[in-house]
Amino acid sequence: VAHILSLLAPAKLNLYLRVVGKRPDGYHELETVFERIDLADELTFDDDPRDVTLTSSHPSLSCGEDNLVIKAARALQRATGTTRGARIHLEKRIPVAAGLGGGSSDAATALIGLDRLWKTHCSTPQLHALAAQLGSDVPIFLLDAPFAIGRGRGELLEPVKVTTVLHHVLVTPNVPLSTKEIFAEADFSLTAVRPSSTIAVHALRNGSLGELAQGIGNDLAPAAIRRCPLIQEIQRGLLDAGCLGAGMSGSGPSVFGLCHDRQQAEAVARQMQRQFTAGFVRVVRTFHNPL
Ligand code: C5P
Repeated sequence: VAHILSLLAPAKLNLYLRVVGKRPDGYHELETVFERIDLADELTFDDDPRDVTLTSSHPSLSCGEDNLVIKAARALQRATGTTRGARIHLEKRIPVAAGLGGGSSDAATALIGLDRLWKTHCSTPQLHALAAQLGSDVPIFLLDAPFAIGRGRGELLEPVKVTTVLHHVLVTPNVPLSTKEIFAEADFSLTAVRPSSTIAVHALRNGSLGELAQGIGNDLAPAAIRRCPLIQEIQRGLLDAGCLGAGMSGSGPSVFGLCHDRQQAEAVARQMQRQFTAGFVRVVRTFHNPL
């Protein structure tokens, strides 16, 4: 019986996201605070001498060469020269195109899993370089820290190693948004200058939820709200329900509400489920397990 490797691919939230400016290469310069959360996809890897193949539990997700998991496998094959293959299965639990980094996490987890399966022994900087080529949000999922500051495209990372566990209600409207389109429409030059990510990081180190709530903000929210006004209604709903703060993650449409504890999060989630029947509502917390 072949040995099967199984790994979790957690989602992320952006507690804070500031667009600093537009770069000559078309990307935007960011300052962001990432948090990994316990909503996770699961990838299983099985040896196959012939080729890399992917199956998934998601009914409409492409499992072809355009899937980031296959792209990750191809990048690792090219970088290491291995001719080995794998049968990969993706159990999809993170909503797609929702601002939660699901595809990016799958790609990072594929790099980690295949490097282990193929015994290609890539160094951490090598994996990081491959990850950054696959997408701006892929490298964070190689870190074993629960929080990180991201700069540049989001790939220049400063891990924040704290034991803080945050509890959130996550609400994802059933409206996929294109990251490319939201960035293109972001009028960040008009948005108020936000406090820097150091406020959020200071709050994480202190475990001060009130201070952390003050640091929540996302420069991509106005553009996302123009496409999906429900984002703003959910933010208001979460605050009215008693969350300390509420913000959009990534390029949306997922919205998170910061809660005092698990118990409050569960109560707020029940209320959100009644109020926003079209959305995906989950209680999530900081994901601390090293990959
Ligand atoms: O890096 P990734 O391929 O995930 O980015 C998807 C798209 O999002 C990019 O093509 C770009 O249009 C936009 N983007 C950006 N600035 C970033 C990250 C992404 O403009 N820092």
